Amino acid sequence: MAENQNRKRILIRTSLIGALVGSFFPVLSFLARKDPEILFGIICTAPLFLGLCAYLVARMRMQAEDLLINKRTEQKVNGQKKLLETILNNLPNIVFAKDYNNGFKFVLFNSAGEKLLGLKNKELIGKSDFDFFPLEQAESFTKKDREVFETGRTITIEQELIQTPKGERILKTVKVPTFKADGKPDLLIGISVDITEDIILQKKLEEERGRSLLHSKLATLGEMSAGVAHEINNPLAIISGNLELMKRYREDPEKFEAKWKASEKSIERIAKIVRGLKKFARVSDQPKLVLSRVSGILQESISFTEARAHQNQTRIQLDDRTTASVLCDPLEIEQVIINLINNGIDAAKSGPEPWVRIEAFEETGEVVIRILDSGPGVSRDVESRLFEPFFTTKEVGEGTGLGLSISKGILSQHNATLGLNRSLSQTCFEIRIKSHTGQL
Ligand SMILES: Nc1ncnc2c1ncn2[C@@H]1O[C@H](COP(=O)(O)OP(=O)(O)O)[C@@H](O)[C@H]1O
Ligand SMILES: [Mg+2]
Repeated sequence: MAENQNRKRILIRTSLIGALVGSFFPVLSFLARKDPEILFGIICTAPLFLGLCAYLVARMRMQAEDLLINKRTEQKVNGQKKLLETILNNLPNIVFAKDYNNGFKFVLFNSAGEKLLGLKNKELIGKSDFDFFPLEQAESFTKKDREVFETGRTITIEQELIQTPKGERILKTVKVPTFKADGKPDLLIGISVDITEDIILQKKLEEERGRSLLHSKLATLGEMSAGVAHEINNPLAIISGNLELMKRYREDPEKFEAKWKASEKSIERIAKIVRGLKKFARVSDQPKLVLSRVSGILQESISFTEARAHQNQTRIQLDDRTTASVLCDPLEIEQVIINLINNGIDAAKSGPEPWVRIEAFEETGEVVIRILDSGPGVSRDVESRLFEPFFTTKEVGEGTGLGLSISKGILSQHNATLGLNRSLSQTCFEIRIKSHTGQL
């Protein structure tokens, strides 16, 4: 408006000067014709008059230019403001700014923020957390805001629960302090992402993982049950034979004692197998990471697969060169190794003198565990699908196709890897996990 008035004023002034100069000439020429002295006076004052006119025109031109520059600057600023508004209001993230010097009252709130809180910008600006959230929550938010300025650093709040008209939402918020030119605190900028869906998905995946793990464990237990039954049957037969004999040796304490001791050993053997089964069937929601010796894990895994190997006339060899420990849930790593040994037994059993070898060594801060077998190997076709859940080449009832995918999942939770090592002549599955030498 002011700019339009200015422009009008300049136009009127320019026209007036023009009219004044224009109307002077006929008047002056009329006067000059009457009196030659006036002509002389006109000639003498003409430069002054023309100079004045030129000055006025130049000044007005400058004013007009200033006006143009102002207009362009204003247009530019408006354009930038609009661009910023467009960006802010189309961001999926919630962006807000609070004034440190005015009780952390909101000075900016973008559309995503309005949507989340179900309030309009004008209802939010000038208000503080205390106007929207329960006292305790508002206090905790403000405490964090102060902390941001006390430390002068950006703070990330991984998860904060807030009440909205749509119910409880979980936000991840980054709070950034900004300072004035003199170093005094100014605005607090906040950027929040609604991670509610991600958290729900993560929970679902964890549940799913737990279920698949149980599924795979039950399947492995099924695969191994024949071997386990065989393992339990042997000591049971020994015990029942011993009981028969003990009836007869009632009068001979020495023989009685010997059979008693032998029976106790067999019972201990059965108990060990049952303990192993119970341990194996356990489902943990989260891996419980502890420093565990690799050698212990290998021993435990082998002891659990021995029965099945024995049943399939497969020799299990162990070449353990490790002294290191790894940070892991030992039961989960044992399950991976058991899966790999079982796969090895399945692959090797059809050939003559089947064997499965477990090699373990340390290499550049990692523990490498290899499970090799005398089987026919993995074809390229099968290799590309090895880690797909439910991919199996085994008969129905023999394989679930879950062993390798679950194993890979377990290892990636441990920041470890599982792969097929093609550089060796025998089938070789290789685990690599960070070692913790000397920390146990
Ligand atoms: N050591 C191995 N030698 C040859 N093939 C293997 C070996 N280990 C796994 N495989 C192949 O990978 C497939 C998937 O293995 P896995 O996920 O453990 O499921 P499953 O053992 O139930 O079939 C197997 O069916 C088999 O074809
Ligand atoms: Mg398997």
